[in-house]
Amino acid sequence: MTDFISMCDALRGLTDGTPHLISNLANAAALLWQSLDDINWAGFYLSDGEKLVLGPFCGKPACIEIPLGRGVCGTAAKAGNTLVVPNVHEFDGHIACDGDSNSEIVVPIKKDGRVVAVLDIDSPKFDRFSEKDRAGLEEFARVIDQMNVARDGFLWTEGNI
Ligand code: SME
Repeated sequence: MTDFISMCDALRGLTDGTPHLISNLANAAALLWQSLDDINWAGFYLSDGEKLVLGPFCGKPACIEIPLGRGVCGTAAKAGNTLVVPNVHEFDGHIACDGDSNSEIVVPIKKDGRVVAVLDIDSPKFDRFSEKDRAGLEEFARVIDQMNVARDGFLWTEGNI
């Protein structure tokens, strides 16, 4: 089982005092990639207010733009809630970036109540993501939000990606 407490601690350690958004998200993606079993994609899409744009990730090359409301990522971003999809083939509008993906979780990252990005993880296993994974990844997303809130002179808002 994934140790989300250690993962969150590791992320705080990696990002503390580092004001570079892309670097921090790249390290966060690497941490997810090395910590979670049975995944084939882990990374971020950043919102410009109308669409999501591909950010740092580990896995195969992925689609670059996803309109808000489209796919699993765009649906979660628009609703502002985590989406756990046990079988992506049954999700209407799922965007298949990697044919190996069978389940997916998308966690919105919010700043001042607005979704500025999503964390997206795909798995080749059906029903890979449990309630514990959801809770752990939501905590992980909060660390990402807080790391930017703590930055002096660095803005992370919609449109500033
Ligand atoms: N499956 C996602 C697209 C992004 S990839 O999984 C990396 C979706 O339906 O939004």
